[in-house]
Amino acid sequence: MKVLGIETSCDETAASVVSAAGVLSDVVHSQEVHAEYGGVVPELASRAHVEKIGAVVRAALDKAGIERPDAVAATAGPGLIGAVLVGLSFAKGLAAAWDVPFVGVNHLEGHLLSALLEDPAPAFPFLGLVVSGGHTTLYLARDVGDYEVLAETIDDAAGEAFDKSARLMRLGYPGGPVVDRLAAEGDPTAVPFPRPLPNEHDWSFSGLKTAVRTHVKGANRDTDANVCASFQAAVVDCLLARVQQASDRTGVRRLALAGGVAANSELRRRAAELDLEVFLPPRSRCTDNGAMIANAGRQRLIRGERHGLDSGARPGWRVA
Ligand code: KG4
Ligand code: ZN
Repeated sequence: MKVLGIETSCDETAASVVSAAGVLSDVVHSQEVHAEYGGVVPELASRAHVEKIGAVVRAALDKAGIERPDAVAATAGPGLIGAVLVGLSFAKGLAAAWDVPFVGVNHLEGHLLSALLEDPAPAFPFLGLVVSGGHTTLYLARDVGDYEVLAETIDDAAGEAFDKSARLMRLGYPGGPVVDRLAAEGDPTAVPFPRPLPNEHDWSFSGLKTAVRTHVKGANRDTDANVCASFQAAVVDCLLARVQQASDRTGVRRLALAGGVAANSELRRRAAELDLEVFLPPRSRCTDNGAMIANAGRQRLIRGERHGLDSGARPGWRVA
């Protein structure tokens, strides 16, 4: 079954075709209009999706060498409602015109299952650390559709902490990739940022962001490279502490990383050093893409799931 997947929940307009043979095409257009505002402007995102969606889908079909797929999947949530609606409506229109099945996909499930697109892929059960701009959650994935939340942020997402800290240093948006690059030249022990763990299971990143603000505005401000390296080390320490703890508690020793922050060099390096079987999708499959939506949709479709063309967007949809 060849599945067309469409993703428009934030600032990437993406489409991909995935089959049993793997990813046949994967086209991503990253919106640049948001950079000057220092964050995603929802209304501009929706408009830019409308402008690009046709060309992006056309390119994904052409690259896959097909006229039409066997089914269409699209992100139905969570995300910016106006942005989600663009891809979702487009996908439902295509499914109706082609008379093929449609399935709405949870964006986070898309991230969580993205390691299944790689070779080797993790077998179930596995721990899935989804770290993005809007979410930071550690799942226990027992099977497709059978997920348990083991840890979650109680305030900011890790990616949000990267973006906000980068903004404090006037490094531009999105901040994650810039902080990652600068950190490579810095000393991770230069600034003793806290490793806040709010309770037995969860994360909290807003205090860390405040510590960055206090340091950056203080008299003894270190170089950007040292601040970035120190901040990044603190985030990675917090993330992996919970992963290790969850693995010890559940006995599950397979770990898949996903979401934009999973593109982070230090997180990837340190995760690979854990005494676990670690699955690291390539960076392009960590940040938002259509292949993860086509894949999650395909997994649902082969289990018989279908959604009506009257199914709506679900901006606050949780996976578990
Ligand atoms: O998954 P994603 O593309 O979109 C959401 O669903 O949110 O994640 C975007 C987030 C942004 O906060 C961005 O700064 C962060 O991922 N990010 C990174 C890196 N690349 C992207 N954070 C740290 N290091 C990176 N290399
Ligand atoms: Zn995402």
